[in-house]
Amino acid sequence: MTAKLVVGTQWGDEGKAKIIDYLSSQIDYIVRYQGGANAGHTVSVNDEVYIFHLIPSGILYPDTTCVIANGVALDPISFMEEVAYLKERGIDVFERTILSDSCHIVLPLHRAIDAARETAAGDKQIGTTKRGIGVCYGDKVMRIGLRLGDLLDKDRLKECLTHFLDVKNRVLANMYSEPVVDFDPLYKSLLEFGEKVRPIVRNTSLELNTALKAGKSVLLEGAQGTGLDIDFGTYPYVTSSNPTTGGAIAGSGISFQHLNEVIGIAKAYVTRVGEGPFPTELHGDEAEELRKIGREFGATTGRPRRCGWFDVELLRHAARVNGLTGIALTKIDILANYDEIKIGVAYKRNGQRLPAFPTDGNLDGIEVEYETMPGWNEDISKARKLSDLPKNCRDYIDRLEELIEVPIKFISVGPGRKDTIVVDD
Ligand code: IMP
Repeated sequence: MTAKLVVGTQWGDEGKAKIIDYLSSQIDYIVRYQGGANAGHTVSVNDEVYIFHLIPSGILYPDTTCVIANGVALDPISFMEEVAYLKERGIDVFERTILSDSCHIVLPLHRAIDAARETAAGDKQIGTTKRGIGVCYGDKVMRIGLRLGDLLDKDRLKECLTHFLDVKNRVLANMYSEPVVDFDPLYKSLLEFGEKVRPIVRNTSLELNTALKAGKSVLLEGAQGTGLDIDFGTYPYVTSSNPTTGGAIAGSGISFQHLNEVIGIAKAYVTRVGEGPFPTELHGDEAEELRKIGREFGATTGRPRRCGWFDVELLRHAARVNGLTGIALTKIDILANYDEIKIGVAYKRNGQRLPAFPTDGNLDGIEVEYETMPGWNEDISKARKLSDLPKNCRDYIDRLEELIEVPIKFISVGPGRKDTIVVDD
């Protein structure tokens, strides 16, 4: 009767998929609960690399049921592309995936508005993935959005789509001078998608709670990260959902009483794509070097990621907001060639230490206080237990744990399933 949650603690791209894949072998249900095809989750298995955007990475295990729950913004085109991509690799998504009837649907017009808004924003761009996610969630909150269940009934869809296009076409034409969308082809394609997925559309909240009561195990797979959370991130430079623990409950409909473990994924350094504050950011050659060694390019958009040192204040914030019970520290192997490694331990403004990560989104004028630790200058990718790690590396991990005050339970030293150290209690 237990549900585990995996959440990002930084600005996404922490290596969540690798840890989710590692934890998934004994799990009955893997659930995506927020975000959409803006996510890019990379998993390496036996020299094969898989990139997932919407479908939970648990699909790689033959006995796992994958769930796209109510909180996800479901893009039918991306979904069917991913189904085809996995089919080519011998995985039948339809056999082992269920979709919530209350997922909101992302349409090409959401993508068009996302891109047009970014262009019109000038220097106020968010740097979105242009996958239409924020625009779709906007419609959800405005109560005009289309949900998957609407696609299963042609009269209902006709009524919802008529109202939806009535609003959206005015926005497209008058605000963005974009072409309006014809009702007929969109109606037809949505009905076709509805027919294709009808056999796997469910009340996923009911199914998950029933499964949990029957003793099955559930893993909730967060996308993005705490720094991108619409409430707890660096607003407005955030995504339009709640990747944090509260979002996992609302976005899956699982009772909080089932949740007994929250694992925060933290990269051993920090990256960010898109605009927004990044107090420990590196610039110039230092950033370039880390980006190159860490292969820090977006899995969804291919954009180069901004890189910087580990930020303890952000992690403490993530620990608080998510109720982390443990941390998985990823990509520590990437720090192998540094003589010295810095840790951002506190934020200051006008010389005064801030009590915590600012929640008002204003990180202007922040200075970071750093501690410097000696590097280990050695390849650790073959380490399989804590004692295989050089002393300086263990000291770095111990210091992070001490500063964050949450146990580090997993250490990832490479992209593969085997490249994982489980820290004994
Ligand atoms: P959106 O989610 O496409 O609206 O983009 C909003 C912000 O979230 C931008 O800074 C994106 O770069 C960032 N973002 C969205 N998804 C991801 C992700 O999976 N990893 C990292 N950043 C992301």
